[in-house]
Amino acid sequence: MKNTKSIIKIVIILFLFTTAFIPKICFGAFQKPQKAKNGMVVTVSTPASLVGVQILKDGGNAVDAAVAVGFALAVTYPYAGNIGGGGFMVIHLNNGKNTTIDFREKAPLRATRDMYLDKDGNYTPSLSKEGATSVGVPGSVAGLICALKRYGTMPLEKVIQPAIDLAEKGWRLDDRTVAAFIKNLENFKKYPSSYKIFSKDGKPYLEGEIFKQPDLAWTLEQIKENGTDGFYKGKVADLLIKQIKEFGGIISHKDLIKYKPVERKPVISTYRGHKIVSMPPPSSGGIILAEMLNILENYHFNPNEWGSSIYYHKLVEAMKYAYADRSVHLGDADFYPVPQKGLLSKEYAKSIFLKIGNKATPSSSIKAGNPMRYQESTETTHYSIYDKYGNAVSVTTTLNSAFGNKIVVEGAGFLLNNEMDDFSSKPGVPNQFGLIGGEGNSIQPEKRMLSSMTPTIILKDGKPYIVIGSPGGSTIITTVMQVILNCIDFNMDIQTAIDMPRIHHQWLPDKIFFEKYAVNLDTAEKLRALGYKLADIRKSFRILGIAEGIMIDNTNHIIYGASDPRGGGSAEGY
Ligand code: DON
Repeated sequence: MKNTKSIIKIVIILFLFTTAFIPKICFGAFQKPQKAKNGMVVTVSTPASLVGVQILKDGGNAVDAAVAVGFALAVTYPYAGNIGGGGFMVIHLNNGKNTTIDFREKAPLRATRDMYLDKDGNYTPSLSKEGATSVGVPGSVAGLICALKRYGTMPLEKVIQPAIDLAEKGWRLDDRTVAAFIKNLENFKKYPSSYKIFSKDGKPYLEGEIFKQPDLAWTLEQIKENGTDGFYKGKVADLLIKQIKEFGGIISHKDLIKYKPVERKPVISTYRGHKIVSMPPPSSGGIILAEMLNILENYHFNPNEWGSSIYYHKLVEAMKYAYADRSVHLGDADFYPVPQKGLLSKEYAKSIFLKIGNKATPSSSIKAGNPMRYQESTETTHYSIYDKYGNAVSVTTTLNSAFGNKIVVEGAGFLLNNEMDDFSSKPGVPNQFGLIGGEGNSIQPEKRMLSSMTPTIILKDGKPYIVIGSPGGSTIITTVMQVILNCIDFNMDIQTAIDMPRIHHQWLPDKIFFEKYAVNLDTAEKLRALGYKLADIRKSFRILGIAEGIMIDNTNHIIYGASDPRGGGSAEGY
């Protein structure tokens, strides 16, 4: 009798333990990706995913859907979706063409190299991170319209209308958005134009309430009627400049008129027979991703080593060397000679691989390499789209911090970015992501600040296989890389590859950052024995990235979509 009682007790305890912990331990490792036959849209916001998939159902291509989603996210994900920020779009067309649209923000014409230093030469982070002095000239509206004109099939009126409807008629607030509004309420309080929108006369919004943004709807209408001129000229531009001037910023009408997105050749590299198509400078994403993968290609991953100290040792050393290169060799290639070919060279990666021993190399003894020798002769959100025609689009867009610089343009209802903080304001001094830089990423008028955004498309036998990207500042590139390794080296489906816990190292600080459950006690002990320092995740990143991905099974004609459970979005296919 006593025995039966204790068995029952143990069973109850075990039941409670498993039901309480399994979903958190595996946060989604048992989720299946969404499946579809025709097309897929994966974003961090379900209303925006639904906008995109409707465009696909109406016969639009992936670029039409990407533009519609871009505008919709400005309404349903004010945290990072935007018209006051910038981003990058990587496109693969079914005719085999790969291209990118760079709509990164630019430094204003009146920007100067030392604009964030005081008279003693000390860096003042609040100036580059907060308020009107932190704003880069926005690129999103010009970029989305440029992509639509060059590669879309639908008129602007059609693709922007869903965003206008969402702003005008409103959408139902979810718990995450409400929590984000509340968390930032004190910041919004500093700006009446923002406080008015993200609270109800100072009272927080509640989950389930309908959230309307009439001023933003009006701005989107101006864009619908006048295209880029609706934003960069006329009434919206007047309101934007007025707001910036009022708070002491330096962006002028001339900056807005001069802003142009740029179509650039993607960074193309290979990894174990796959073609990696990603973003060139002014993003460091494509090059640093390729450099890390090129280093890791020299290893053979044993299927059972995932999560072990041996596995993390390989990853972390590759990360450190690549991020050291980032700090010196990367910047806007229109202003600085980025040694792209050298950084992408397999021989250069091999030379780094040969330096990696079986112990941690302290970051202090790792310096940026000399890729020139290998030159032959340079708060954010991501969405992924694939259409029934075989086109793929990968977009990462940002205001930089959550809700950018927190300033809504009075009367125009949109938030402004604080992207100037992505420049290296003073050599060797870290920005908000702890990244350091030098001459390559110094401030110059009209220069684009270096980014880590890594929208990527992976081709297998010439056809889209994976569409992937993530937010996360400096952790974007390592997030994208780990999802790719999980798929290609460890054969995971796209949902599992995204769900699995991640680690991050960026050379400096010399610490491994890791998510809960990424490093167990045994592994931590072994990593320490190899000479690694482990960061306390609770004091740093709670999560590493929010990846949104698609995997295409071209043999069975199935499209798999996976939204990262770290965010609140969805994969919508049909
Ligand atoms: O372009 C960049 O690298 C940064 N502005 C991205 C910021 C970001 O990902 C913040 N989101 N979590």
